[in-house]
Parts: sequence; structure tokens; C-alpha cells
Amino acid sequence: MADDHRSAAVTYANYLKIDELLSLQRPRSTGPEHDEMLFIVIHQVYELWFKELLHEFDRVRRLLEDDESHRAQHTLKRILTILKVMVAQLDILETMTPLEFFSFRERLEAASGFQSDQFRQIEFLLGIKSQAAIDRFANGTRARAALEQRYREATLWDAFLHYLAREKYAVPAPLLTRDVVARVEASPDVQQILIEIYRRDTKNAELCERLVDLDEGVQEWRYRHVKMVERTIGAKPGTGGSAGAAYLRETIGTPAFPDLWTIRSQL
Ligand code: HEM
Repeated sequence: MADDHRSAAVTYANYLKIDELLSLQRPRSTGPEHDEMLFIVIHQVYELWFKELLHEFDRVRRLLEDDESHRAQHTLKRILTILKVMVAQLDILETMTPLEFFSFRERLEAASGFQSDQFRQIEFLLGIKSQAAIDRFANGTRARAALEQRYREATLWDAFLHYLAREKYAVPAPLLTRDVVARVEASPDVQQILIEIYRRDTKNAELCERLVDLDEGVQEWRYRHVKMVERTIGAKPGTGGSAGAAYLRETIGTPAFPDLWTIRSQL
């Protein structure tokens, strides 16, 4: 207590750790090449947005578990707004020409967004889980521990189905006790429930629409990322060891919540 009056007052710089933050951008190219700074900053910004998204997703899941659907929708709106900003930010990186990128690309060695554990955590939350994604991270690392935990956790879709069951919809029992590690499969029974919701239950239809927005938003990011990759490296393989754009194209267009898309043609 005696030292309290001498401890530094809270300032913009010490609260936000500005000195630490500004010391974290370390280009590897000699010179360094001008565009490497943008490349580092934008990836770091994305990782911060991923962190914030995970924080908000955890809240949405909790709110659904507590039957607070109105607040869950509110949080989903925030998530969607962040996603829009994330998609828009790709425009900035697209001002970097292929030659500007190649001026430092070899210094990235095998590093790639493919190794972003937070991106995989988001996929896990959406129900796109894989043991292989975990195995890429060494035992004992923060990344592996985080992924292992998310692997075992219920997905957002599971939380949604449990919520619907408590709202008195006849969600089939096997879906409420399913192995949360498995990919979310299309279910004709759930589709019937969703059709009923869209026709008669405005409150929950709104919630469904926000989940469609989310699914579409993630696909939009994937699409824009592939286009950026195509215009920057063409058909060259990725630094992460994949076929590059050809691999990324395969990840677009597979929805996380298939039932919400299937019912569109029956409404
Ligand atoms: C010039 C800019 C960029 C290029 C050329 C590029 C290229 C690539 C390529 C080729 C892949 C496939 C994996 C590989 O073999 O490396 C990939 C994956 C990925 N990149 Fe990028 N990327 C760029 C910018 C970004 C940015 C700014 C982010 C934001 C975090 C990002 C996040 C990711 C993620 C999350 C994956 C994994 C996608 C998946 O497996 O579905 N990339 N990137």
C-alpha cells in the first residue's frame, strides 16, 4: 500500500502497452523491403481480430446456453461487423503488387497463414474440426493446448440445437448427444424444424438469419483471400507447402451450417 501513490498513473501508452506493441514488427528482408512492414502489420491485425472473434464467439455460445437469444443476436451482429472489416482489409494488401511481394517472400521460408492456430480455432468453433490441424502444433505450446480444448468443446451449432430443443422444438435426441468432434452433417429433421421456424417464429428466424450471415461472411473472407492469392502468386505453391490457390479454392463454398442453406429452396 505504501508504494501506491508512487505507482505510475494509467496512461494511453502503459494501458495499451504501446511500446511493446510497436516493437513487435520485425522485417526479415535486408533493406528492409518497404512492403514487408505492411505484410507484418496486416497479419498481426488479423490475429488480433481472430482473438476478438473467439472472445465474442465464446460469449454467443454462453448466451445461447443461457437462453438469452436476443443478446446472442446482438453479439453475433458485432461478430459480423468485425468480419466485414476483415474482408475489407484485404483491399489494403491487394495494393501490394506481385513483384513487391516477391521482394521479401523467400524470407518467409515455410511460414504461412495456414499455421494460424486462431484461424483453426474459429473453424473448430464452427464445427470444422480435424486432428491433423492439431498435430501441426508441437506438444506443450499455447496453440496446441488451445486447439485441443476447442476440439473437445461443443460447436456453435451444437449450442444452437440445444437452444432449439429448450425452445420446445423436436430436435432428434442423437443430435443432442452427438460426438462434438464430428463434422456437422445435414439433417432432414433439423431442416423441417428450421422451415417451421422461418414460417412461424420471427424471433428464432432472425437468429437463423444471423447464423447464415456468419456462414456467408466466413466464406466471403475465404473467397477474397483466394482472389488476393491468385493475383499475388498466381498458380505458385504456398509457402505453407500446399498447392496454393488450388488448395484454397477447395475450401470455399462448403457451408459450416448446411441445413440453413438447404432449406432455402423449400421456403
Ligand atoms: C500476399 C498475401 C498472401 C498470400 C500470397 C497468401 C497465400 C496463402 C496461401 C498460398 C495459402 C495456402 C497454404 C500455403 O500453402 O501456404 C494461405 C493460407 C492461409 N492464409 Fe494466406 N496469404 C496472404 C495473406 C494472408 C493474410 C493477410 C491472412 C490473414 C491472417 C492470411 C491467412 C491465411 C489463412 C488463415 C490460411 C489458411 C486457410 C485454410 O487452410 O483454409 N493470409 N495463404
